[in-house]
Amino acid sequence: MKDATYDGPGSQDLTTWDRIADRYIELADHRATSSFHHLTDFFHERLRPLSGKSVLDVGCGHGWLAHSLADQGAEVTGVDGSESMITQARSRYPNLTFHTADLVGGLGPARAVAGYDAMVARFSLQCIADLDGLLRDVIVALRPGGLFLASMPHPAFYMRERVEDPVTKERYRKVTGYLEHEIRILPDFGGHRYFHRPVSWYIKSFARHGMHLDDMREPPQHPDTAGNRKRDEWTDFEKWWSTIPVFLGLGFRKAAAG
Ligand SMILES: C[S@@+](CC[C@H](N)C(=O)[O-])C[C@H]1O[C@@H](n2cnc3c(N)ncnc32)[C@H](O)[C@@H]1O
Repeated sequence: MKDATYDGPGSQDLTTWDRIADRYIELADHRATSSFHHLTDFFHERLRPLSGKSVLDVGCGHGWLAHSLADQGAEVTGVDGSESMITQARSRYPNLTFHTADLVGGLGPARAVAGYDAMVARFSLQCIADLDGLLRDVIVALRPGGLFLASMPHPAFYMRERVEDPVTKERYRKVTGYLEHEIRILPDFGGHRYFHRPVSWYIKSFARHGMHLDDMREPPQHPDTAGNRKRDEWTDFEKWWSTIPVFLGLGFRKAAAG
């Protein structure tokens, strides 16, 4: 069953990712303390001990997460549809294996290895126009009992404007739509499409493919304006800002064999 916003294979998005890869990589490399890295600990925490585990990084970009998991002893393979991203990943981490595939059609060459202990998808699922083909391959290539961990912009609150009413002083995020699937544009790094789907849609889609919710994280947001100031030095507005999560972590588990 195709996603409601599906409008063809990922080729138009991959052309965009090839164009914006350098800007994305620059940002990823230099935003050490920002919210950009939210939920990276989630992957490490849930996969520990990493030693000897085989992990597939789905939508691996330039491979930094794959590398950080491999650094802890995992055997990591990465797959991404952007040639520019994969070229960077291969040149930075020549000891790791990276494949190119349009994930709308499934895992491509990464499918051939059956029995991954885990898969990670850091901020990639929402970029993929349709997940049906991908999830079909994931359930085959994941070992029984294996984990699929994903992080993504929080479908309810990400990029929803923060408002402080000048008269009533009421503070809120302006949620203009949630249950309907939408194609939205994320202007960062040169502009790319992302596919808004409600959280329940992800949970049902994974369940339909034999993977059930095992974990869910909604970390407090670190306000962009707070820099390195400690929480008790934040303004009232910043404290409020942190109470609405804009990133989401989801963990799914394939049932153990028999
Ligand atoms: C926001 S980046 C995340 C990259 C990496 N996981 C990270 O954490 O830095 C999204 C990634 O999804 C990839 N992507 C988008 N659409 C795709 C598709 N249809 N098939 C394969 N990869 C895709 C992009 O090339 C990009 O590397």
